Amino acid sequence: MGDKVYTLAILLAILFLASQVISYINEARFKRKHGCKPETRIPQLERIIGYDIYKIQAEVSRSRKSLETTKWRYDTYGSTWSAVVAGRRFINTIETENIKTVLSVNFKEYGLGARQIAWGPLLGAGIFTTDGAQWEHSRSLVRPNFTKSQVADLNTFETHIQKLITKIPTDGSTVDLQTLFFQLTLDSATQFLFGESVSSLSSTEGSAQEQFGTMFDLAQNRLARRSRLAKLVWLFKDKDFDVACEVVHEFVDNIINKALEKADPVDAEKSIDGTGEPERYVFLTEMLKATRDPKQLRDELLNVLLAGRDTTASLLSHTFHVLARRPDIWNKLKAEIDELQGQKPDYDTLRDLKYLKYLLNESPALRLYPVVPANGRFALNDTVLPLGGGPNGLSPVFVPKGTLVAYSTYVMHRRKDVYGADAEEFRPERWAPEEGLRPGWAYLPFNGGPRICVGQQFALTEAAYTIVRMVQQFAGMENRDPTQWVEGLALTLSSGNGVKVAMVPR
Ligand code: HEM
Repeated sequence: MGDKVYTLAILLAILFLASQVISYINEARFKRKHGCKPETRIPQLERIIGYDIYKIQAEVSRSRKSLETTKWRYDTYGSTWSAVVAGRRFINTIETENIKTVLSVNFKEYGLGARQIAWGPLLGAGIFTTDGAQWEHSRSLVRPNFTKSQVADLNTFETHIQKLITKIPTDGSTVDLQTLFFQLTLDSATQFLFGESVSSLSSTEGSAQEQFGTMFDLAQNRLARRSRLAKLVWLFKDKDFDVACEVVHEFVDNIINKALEKADPVDAEKSIDGTGEPERYVFLTEMLKATRDPKQLRDELLNVLLAGRDTTASLLSHTFHVLARRPDIWNKLKAEIDELQGQKPDYDTLRDLKYLKYLLNESPALRLYPVVPANGRFALNDTVLPLGGGPNGLSPVFVPKGTLVAYSTYVMHRRKDVYGADAEEFRPERWAPEEGLRPGWAYLPFNGGPRICVGQQFALTEAAYTIVRMVQQFAGMENRDPTQWVEGLALTLSSGNGVKVAMVPR
């Protein structure tokens, strides 16, 4: 008996070794074929668990210095380097050719990894959580809802902005605009998606709408931690998260059930043109033309809500964060907006406001402090990145299956070789055509390739319209926060200290 076990163990060991040798030979052949050379590996105590870097990351996240630390690593180790963190192999890069390869050229070689496991309990299987054919289907359902006529419904924004304005004190007392912008974008996004706004800017305490807002925030705030736990997430029970998901689902399901009961949804496109019934465009109503599956409807609605709400709030908050500190920029913007003589702008007028366009391109939320400052994709097979290998970083790099190729838009958007010596300065004029700045893949606030943000025009229109209406309402603003910008990094990046200002009435 003992002999048999012994022989079996030896056989297994031989098989294991043989498979290791074969995969080593295959890997070496693959690397040779593609001319791969080793990338820089950052110094680590060991590269099996990578606990040292994991610990540093946890510390810098607590001290709100994650982004600064990432920048330091790129400054120290170059534009492509690898590390092992919490048992996961990362290749980090800010090479535009590498990012283009991952997001576009070799799009099919990469996926989102365990995002669906981590986010699924809240978001189900929708555009933001799925890969492959399932994602393609989601994208084909969601994308048609973002044409010009649909995002140009400025009357909807106007109603919510007026509520926001009533919340801003006119007696010189301090207000945190960031809190108000998060309410504004929740209200406008729910109006656009569900056809009824949760009206957080005016809702009464204890209402179902208020509860939905609170529970959606709670559930969403847990997603970043759940992502870090990845496949081990089921080991950590989180009762609050489970309850929040239930409340959110019930709220949305009620709205969907009511919509499903209406046999013949209104054609919203006609109504925007003024040729149909005077109802506003509603995402849910449009989706009903393509599917009547309640679970899919809920998943897509929540996916788009999550993708669109905090992001647009951050764009507004960060833009006002800088306006409060730069009266020179406020005055230039005001001069441009005053040419409208107090008239509400329409979609085309907004697009003609050049300085506002440069200001938004340069908004900290899009360039220096991008809303999504880091992102990544998992290799589905052994594959190759075109740059980062060898001592000069100009050779291809081997990417083993399962590796997370991570890229930092925060660092990339500060590259001096792209943006010039003043890359770290806030200067809207750099976007004027005569300056010739064409960053291409080095400017990715909305991502690129087939998964590029579907809500880009929606966000830019809502932000531009809100800024115009605020500048028309107020003569100026005073900064009431003497501190420097502080990192507020969860699923998206916001200002850790909010945007504390006093608005000066006209
Ligand atoms: C300033 C505002 C916004 C920024 C900076 C932004 C940025 C991004 C980024 C970086 C991604 C890629 C995420 C990833 O790799 O997983 C993305 C995807 C997405 N965004 Fe946005 N976004 C904004 C506003 C919006 C709005 C307003 C909506 C909808 C109302 C929206 C809907 C989506 C959707 C559905 C996706 C997933 C696309 C897909 O995977 O096919 N976004 N966005």
